Amino acid sequence: QYQPAQRHVLVDDVDRVKVITLRRPEALNALHDEMTDEILAVIRRHEADPRVAGFVIVGYGTKAFCAGADIGRFPSLLGDADAAAQYARDCSRLLVHLDRSPKPVVAALNGMGLGGGLELAMRCHAIVADRRAVMQLPEVGLGIVPGIGAMVVPYRRWPRAAAVLHGMLTRGERLRAGQAQELGIVDELADGWQDLVTRAVARVHALAGAVRPIPDGPVAVPPFEPAPAAEAGVRSAAIVALIEQAVREAAAATTLGDALEIGYRAFGAAACTPAAREGIAAFLAKRSPDFVAT
Ligand code: HXC
Repeated sequence: QYQPAQRHVLVDDVDRVKVITLRRPEALNALHDEMTDEILAVIRRHEADPRVAGFVIVGYGTKAFCAGADIGRFPSLLGDADAAAQYARDCSRLLVHLDRSPKPVVAALNGMGLGGGLELAMRCHAIVADRRAVMQLPEVGLGIVPGIGAMVVPYRRWPRAAAVLHGMLTRGERLRAGQAQELGIVDELADGWQDLVTRAVARVHALAGAVRPIPDGPVAVPPFEPAPAAEAGVRSAAIVALIEQAVREAAAATTLGDALEIGYRAFGAAACTPAAREGIAAFLAKRSPDFVAT
């Protein structure tokens, strides 16, 4: 059986729980295919083992849990809707696996949870967060959409957070750990890395046998507020429209699988826009994007 070399994650045993540490400090633990495969391999290897109670996923260091998908991969997807949608489907394999996991997987949010990294945390069965942790979906500022669940899953898991989620998706608004706890997104707060991991491990044991599936749907979502005129150029109206449409369509879908597929295709559509070309080029050139012409 093929086992990818474990180079991007560390695995430790704490009280019958496998603690998986995302470890790419040079890129704030951003996810790429190899890392995703390694996480998936660790979970697959141990999920049937009765000696293992479950898993914790945490980020190396104190700055970031995970800065999202590796943006360096994105230029090769521009202009090809099918390839980009397939990339999103591939990125999603780990997350879809978590949806069906027989054992609890708890996210320990030690710092920034951004984009695909936040989407990963939101698919875990509980989130324990350091008090200073921040959640953000910066995709709109890159001229793309959060295609692996953020337009779908949180509306089903935490319906009362819908208005806040709208702001995160369409304006890139940040959510602090304490606010996320008030909304039910974060289950518990911690002080520092050690306390965080200890609480996350305890939560795995508390969840044993009580992992709730993500509801299918459909689900009601409130209307989006129009963007203030002053924001022209900061983000692309075409991308905001794609996000709003995908959220509405996904909310109306009767199965989670159908809803997720809407997200993958929206990612594919976004990859074909001038906004994506500008947003990704700007990030890689370390300059601010200018979406005026998009
Ligand atoms: C690749 C990344 C990265 C990412 C950070 N880095 N995030 N590389 N992919 N997602 C790299 C930086 O390029 C830099 O590399 C190093 O990590 C440290 O980051 P800095 O930017 O120097 O740090 P700082 O100035 O503190 O800024 C932190 C930050 C910023 C605000 C988090 O790094 C940032 O905006 N990152 C992108 C976050 C993001 O947009 N995530 C969403 C991705 S899209 P060098 O080599 O210069 O030191 C996504 C979509 C998922 O996740 C759906 C897929 C289908």
